[in-house]
This record gives sequence, C-alpha cells and structure tokens, in this order.
Amino acid sequence: MSRTDTPTTTDAGTSVSGKSILLDQVTKRYAGQSKPAVDGITLEIPAGKIVMLVGPSGCGKTTTLKMINRLIEPSEGRIVLGDDDVTSIDGDELRRRIGYVIQAGGLFPHLTVAANIAIVPKMLGWSKDRIEARVDELLELVSLDPDTYRDRFPRELSGGQQQRVGVARALAADPPVLLMDEPFGAVDPITRQRLQDELINIQQELQKTIVIVTHDFDEAVKLGDWIVIFSEGAHIVQYDTPERILAEPANEFVENFIGSGAGLKQLTLTRVRDVDLAEAVVAREGEPARDVLARVEATGHQHAVVVDERDRPVRWPSVRQLGRLETIPAGADPDLPVIGSAATLNDALDTMLVSSAGAALVTGRRDAFIGVITVEVVMDAITRAREAAAAASGDAPVGTNTGPLPVLGAPDDAADGSAA
Ligand SMILES: Nc1ncnc2c1ncn2[C@@H]1O[C@H](COP(=O)(O)OP(=O)(O)O)[C@@H](O)[C@H]1O
Ligand SMILES: [Mg+2]
Repeated sequence: MSRTDTPTTTDAGTSVSGKSILLDQVTKRYAGQSKPAVDGITLEIPAGKIVMLVGPSGCGKTTTLKMINRLIEPSEGRIVLGDDDVTSIDGDELRRRIGYVIQAGGLFPHLTVAANIAIVPKMLGWSKDRIEARVDELLELVSLDPDTYRDRFPRELSGGQQQRVGVARALAADPPVLLMDEPFGAVDPITRQRLQDELINIQQELQKTIVIVTHDFDEAVKLGDWIVIFSEGAHIVQYDTPERILAEPANEFVENFIGSGAGLKQLTLTRVRDVDLAEAVVAREGEPARDVLARVEATGHQHAVVVDERDRPVRWPSVRQLGRLETIPAGADPDLPVIGSAATLNDALDTMLVSSAGAALVTGRRDAFIGVITVEVVMDAITRAREAAAAASGDAPVGTNTGPLPVLGAPDDAADGSAA
C-alpha cells in the first residue's frame, strides 16, 4: 500500500501539487448558540494527502471544512495554507485557490457543463482557447466524453455524471486544495463506489491536498490517507491512518463509530490491484467458438473472457456455453461482474456476491480487461490485511483541541498528538 507515514513533511522531488493546511486554535461560535460549533481545533493537514473528517451529525464537520475556504468566518484562530497565513485575505480570492465540491455537484442549472467548468478560469481571465482546452481535458479526467457532454445541461445528466462535472469544475484552475462536503452522499451505492474509485485514480495523478467530510466510516477508510474522528464541538477523538484506527481505536466512542464489522472492514484497506489476479483465456467477437474452446481446455480453465475492440470485457461464457456456439457473438452481458483495479476488496466481494459468480473480471486503464479476482484470493487477503494492520506504525500529524501546535512540523511532537 502506498501510504506515507511522514505526513508533516512533503518529500522533495515528488509531483505533489497540493499544499498543507493548518488550522491553528480555530473556534467558531454561531450567534445564539451556547457552545462553540468548533472548539479550538488545531489540525495539521499534510500536503498531497486525502484527509477525511468523520463524526456524528452536528459535530462540526461542515463548519470546520467551510472555515478552510472561509465560506464561514472563524470566530478565533488562524488558518495557514502552505506558507501563507490566509486568515484575513480576501475570501473570494482565497476560494479561487481552493476547489470546493458539494453533494450532487452543486452545478448551476442554467449553464452548460462547459460553462459550469469554466467559471473560475473565466474569472481569472483565461483566453477562450485555453478555457476550451481545459474543459475538454477535465472532462476526460473525470471519464466523460467531451464531445458528448460539454454542451449538455445539468438536468440532462445522471447524479453520478453531475458529481463528476462538480469535481471537474473544482479542479478547473488547478487549485492545490480540494474541499469536498459529503460529495457522494446523493448517489446510489454502485455509482458511489465508481466515483470513489475515480477520485482515487485522479488523486494518484494530481496529488492534491483533499479534505473530505463524510458520515460514512467505510468511505473514510477507503479514501483517506488520514482520518480525523470528531465528537461534538469538532473535538478530535482520533487522528490517524485507517489501518491504525481499525486496529487500535482510541476509545469506546471510536469503537462504536467503527461499528461491529471491523474485521470485514479490513477488506476496505486492500485494493484489487494489490492482490494476485488469475489469468484468463481472452476471446473476441466473431472468432470460431471451437478455437476458443480449444484454448480454454488447453489451460484447464472453465471460462473464456470476451473483450471488445478496446479490450473491455463484454461476456464471460463457460465451457458449456462455448460448446453450443458456432462463433463468438456480438453484444455485451449487462450483468457481467466487473470491477476496477482501484476498487477495494470489499467492493470486489460485493460484486461477486451480487452475480454469485465466485469471481469477478478486473479492469485497469480505460476499462481494459487485466485479469480475474477470485473469492479465495479475497478471503486470503482478509487474513493478511489484519496482520499488516497490527504491524503498522508511524508518526501521525498533529490534531488537538487543547492548545497550540507544539513545534510546527517536528515529527517527535507530532507523534503523540493523535489522541487528544
Ligand atoms: N448557520 C448556523 N447557525 C447556527 N448554528 C449552526 C449553523 N450552522 C451549523 N450550526 C450548528 O453548528 C453545529 C455544527 O454543525 P455542522 O458543522 O453543520 O455539523 P456537521 O457537518 O458535522 O453535521 C450544529 O449544532 C449546528 O446546528
Ligand atoms: Mg455537514
């Protein structure tokens, strides 16, 4: 797994485009409320990482997030972006440097997809050509075909597509920081899983600093390099890696929040690309079925995987089905159990259970077929993920509600800041 355990420093020479964020003793008191919504939080968010803010409803997640781009003004405290104290710079200017994504994308309904994405570049005075090129590049990045989608209106898109456009819009001016507030809360579970996988892929490419609010602990484990668990008043109960939160919950509050299925949640820590995939006999439409059958029998397999002209899996006929065919027919099986290589083993297991196949087809770049994952491999990985979690160690970034940051960026001080 590619987690780094030294989040307080950014390794020189990598392509991290994100900037660190520091909330320094930040408090928010809303008018007419007796207790602060956010109570003196000090939180260090490392550059180029995904940090998840989780906790029960009303604990102050959204307020914390919106103070970073000053959609909400802090009552007290300081906010530092990279080396810049941004506590009192112009809020509009700040927000051009920070991408912001909300549920369902938050698109302007009267603007086309392209116009929605172009908002910040336009404000920044980019040329028309540069904006058009950027819109197409971003649509590609979020897996929407530019020719098909750039002139559509939000109402002509599915929920998942709107969310993708929301991400593209937030990335338009290439900001170092992306804030997302329950971004995948409004879509169905399958779409959510796909959007999560895409975000992971995008992040591997861009290495932004991403802060995501969620109330879904599974989502936090899946996406987060680091997870902050809040109780009421944005009190930090635990700030650590998903592995260590699962292996060593700080207290009963965290244990309850994690829920009972902690063993199974270990599956969320391992990705399909991290396990050994089985090979398969690949066939193409129009091939004589007899030839395919001969190849399948020669390898002792039970199935062949039929791929289209772009190597995407479309059917998965058994030996018996192949025996009844003349040639490999055209057309795709809509119920094919397919999973992306960035998906978690948990998702893979779900896909297998739904199709009752005991295995799933794995796709890599541009949805091309790369191998088969079996239920045995998944079960084996549960055991290994547990062992890995028990052995994991490293320095956590700082997060407290009890005072200032000891010494900024000093790993020794960071080491004990995780469980205030
Ligand atoms: N604009 C507001 N005015 C007054 N109280 C608010 C406002 N926004 C949020 N709150 C209160 O602040 C607390 C934290 O809210 P919020 O940050 O939205 O929590 P979360 O996102 O974790 O659900 C809650 O008690 C909420 O009722
Ligand atoms: Mg909220």
